[in-house]
Amino acid sequence: MTPATLANPPKVKLTKNLINGEWCDAASGRTLEAFNPATGEVIAHVAASEEIDVDRAVEAARSALEHGPWSKMSARDRGKCLYKLAELVETHAEELAMLEVLNNGKPIGEVRAADVPLVAETYRYYAGWADKITGDTIPVDRTMGNFFCYTKREPVGVCGQIIPWNFPMLMMAWKWGPALACGNTVVLKPAEQTPLTALRIGELAMEAGFPPGVINIVNGYGETAGDAIVKHPGVDKIAFTGEYKTAQIISRNAADTLKRLTFELGGKSPSVVFADADIDKAVQGAMTGIFFNQGEVCCASSRLFVEESVHDQFVEKFKTAAEKRKIGDPFDTGTEQGAQVSREQFDKVLSYIDIGKNEDNATCVTGGARHGDNGWFVKPTIFSDVRNDMRIAQEEIFGPVCSVLKFRDMDDVIKQANTTMYGLAAAVWTKDMTKAFAIADGVRAGTVWVNCYNTFDPAAPFGGYKFSGHGRENGKDALNAYSEVKTVWVNLGKR
Ligand code: NAI
Ligand code: MG
Repeated sequence: MTPATLANPPKVKLTKNLINGEWCDAASGRTLEAFNPATGEVIAHVAASEEIDVDRAVEAARSALEHGPWSKMSARDRGKCLYKLAELVETHAEELAMLEVLNNGKPIGEVRAADVPLVAETYRYYAGWADKITGDTIPVDRTMGNFFCYTKREPVGVCGQIIPWNFPMLMMAWKWGPALACGNTVVLKPAEQTPLTALRIGELAMEAGFPPGVINIVNGYGETAGDAIVKHPGVDKIAFTGEYKTAQIISRNAADTLKRLTFELGGKSPSVVFADADIDKAVQGAMTGIFFNQGEVCCASSRLFVEESVHDQFVEKFKTAAEKRKIGDPFDTGTEQGAQVSREQFDKVLSYIDIGKNEDNATCVTGGARHGDNGWFVKPTIFSDVRNDMRIAQEEIFGPVCSVLKFRDMDDVIKQANTTMYGLAAAVWTKDMTKAFAIADGVRAGTVWVNCYNTFDPAAPFGGYKFSGHGRENGKDALNAYSEVKTVWVNLGKR
């Protein structure tokens, strides 16, 4: 395959909805525009669905769940479909990577190294679970009778899955993997900004042998297509990743039908650098922590707490590293930082940079502006002299903007780290394990990284405390959200 370039981008073939194994336009015929963030150009017109399209998808998913071949398929065969999908993702890795770069703006090197392999491994990991999701036998009291009591795990049903644009393929895999391993059927709504790879993976899933109706993809805006999924009485569960404010709307709208809900939301994740840390490694960690994926990462380490005695030295090295970062054409293998996903996100990030400079009166150490004059690129930006009560320390920016704060001692830093509405992730940089464990215990966050950042594995659970969400994705824990426990009592009669 010829490598794509900005001048010669990959061709977009799939733009319709996938419902009951068939590609179809939105009933209204409406479409939405998908963009190339590196140029701002329109690259595709994708179905813009509404309630009627969601109705059709839910009907297909319900029928596949209750009557279709999927409902009779053994757990092992479900696993085989997932194994096959993992294999197909690997076979088409380069094509998928280029499509993701085209539609998201992230650099090809990272998509090849992180997104695509993690997607394949996530499907493979849950393929392995499919025939190992078991119940228990329960040692119930015998005084009332001779009972045999056992539990089994059954699918929750039709799962509505609403995902964001920052890791389009990976967020889809985190949703589909556990849902399908448990025997559910799904109606997925990709983010309106990044529908393209989801559609290609949908096509690969059909090839992998998932029967029609098991997986359905409905494109469209959150307020129309997303809203219809959330309110639909035929949907049993919503799994959502995105902004906490959207999760609040979803909670309200799902209340009438009492849907099961899992949320993976944002963060303002603290990294703590103690004076005894390997400073060069901590700087590298800070770089990965905030600038990976243009800062469009729910667990981005956007608050960096540095112990007073090493603060100035740290900031100097961090600035030097940030200024060396290669920004630009995401199809170029040497590029480290691509474009923000949309005009809206680009504007949001720049407006927070303004807030940092003016309203908060922090010091902009480097960056602080757009990069170039074409596409939605933002320079890696570092603020120092930040106080934890400033807006740039409390509100999620979701871009390449880091706030550096000082701390005095352990109690001070744990208190500051926890003074946030969020609780998704945290990190600590130190050679002293006593300090590392104190942070790991003291910080209220779903993931704590010790002398590392952004390490992920499909086997390791991920999710948030507080406003960062509820429920866990990945690992065995994700299976809980996609299965109901049935307890069966059998009266064995008098012996
Ligand atoms: P969003 O939360 O509005 O969108 C995420 C998904 O939810 C999309 O598929 C969207 O179409 C859908 N959605 C939106 N409104 C909906 C509704 N009323 N009912 C059902 N579905 C709905 O996030 P958005 O607006 O794209 O980004 C805003 C901010 O959210 C970002 O700047 C960032 O701070 C945060 N965010 C956090 C993410 C994370 O991974 N935790 C991912 C994306 C955004
Ligand atoms: Mg929104």
